[in-house]
Amino acid sequence: MVAAIAHVPVRSSAATKSVVAAASQSSRLAAPTDKHGVIDHERQQRSPSGIDDDRSPATSPRVNSPCVTAGLDDEDGEVDLRLRPLRVDDEAAYRAAQAELLADGFSFGFIQDAESFTEHVQRLERQRRGRDLGDLVESTWLVAEVAGQLVGRASIRHQLNEYLAFHSGHIGYGVRPAFRRRGYATEILRQSLIVARSYGIGPVLVTCDDDNIASAAVIEACGGQLERVVPGHESDDGVPFRRYWIP
Ligand SMILES: CC(C)(COP(=O)(O)OP(=O)(O)OC[C@H]1O[C@@H](n2cnc3c(N)ncnc32)[C@H](O)[C@@H]1OP(=O)(O)O)[C@@H](O)C(=O)NCCC(=O)NCCS
Repeated sequence: MVAAIAHVPVRSSAATKSVVAAASQSSRLAAPTDKHGVIDHERQQRSPSGIDDDRSPATSPRVNSPCVTAGLDDEDGEVDLRLRPLRVDDEAAYRAAQAELLADGFSFGFIQDAESFTEHVQRLERQRRGRDLGDLVESTWLVAEVAGQLVGRASIRHQLNEYLAFHSGHIGYGVRPAFRRRGYATEILRQSLIVARSYGIGPVLVTCDDDNIASAAVIEACGGQLERVVPGHESDDGVPFRRYWIP
C-alpha cells in the first residue's frame, strides 16, 4: 500500500519544515491523444481512458527509495503545502478535482473506468514500485494538500521512454482552479524535484505549451533552463511547446 517512506529535511525560500512520503503514477504507451509536453501528459486525460503517457521500457536504474514530500511552515504566514500519496479517503476530493481539471482541458488524475478508487490507489503504489507496469513506466503520482484540502497534484516519471523524452518530460503538475495564483504550482514542482532527485533523476526535463505562461513561470522559478521551443506538429494539436532542463 501507499506508505510514507522517507523523511528528508528540506529548506525553501519559504520556511520549509519537513519532508515525508511517497506514491505513484504511470502512463501509457499508446500515442497521446492530444497535447504535448507536460500538458500533453495532463491534457490527454480528456480522453475517456484517462491515463498518463509515460511509455515504454524503463531506461534508468530503479531506486528503492520512494518519494519525499515537503511542507512549508505556516508559522510566519507561509503556505503549508505537502505532497503525499493518494489515499482511499481522498475519493470525493479527487473526483471533484478531476471534474474541475477536465473542464479546464487537463486531468487531475488517471483513474480508469474499469477500476474502483481503491484499486486505483493500489495501482498507483504498484506503479511507483515498478510492479505490473505493462506498457507504463515506473512513476510516482502525488497529491498536493494544503490545510486538509487537495489543491493539486504531481506526476513524477522515474524513467523516460522515447515519447516522454521528447514531449512530456519527467514531471507534470496541475492545480485546481480555485487554488491558483497562490504559488502552489511552484511549490509542487519544487517538492517534486526533491522526489525526482531521490530517485537519482537529474537533470530533470519539464515541458509546457509555449503559450502556458503560468507553467513556464513555474518551471523558470524552479531553475528551468530553456533548451528550445519545439514547433507544433499536427500530431500534437499543432501547439509549440517548450523544453526546459532543471539541473
Ligand atoms: C499552470 C498552473 C499549474 C499554475 O498553477 P498556479 O498554482 O496558479 O501557479 P503559481 O501560483 O505557482 O504561479 C506561478 C507563476 O505563474 C504566474 N501565473 C499564474 N497564473 C497565471 C496566469 N493565468 N497568467 C499569467 N501568469 C500566471 C504567477 O503570477 C506566478 O508568477 P510569479 O512567480 O512571477 O508571480 C495551473 O494554472 C494549472 O494547473 N493549469 C492547468 C494544468 C497545467 O497547465 N499544468 C502544467 C502543464 S505544463
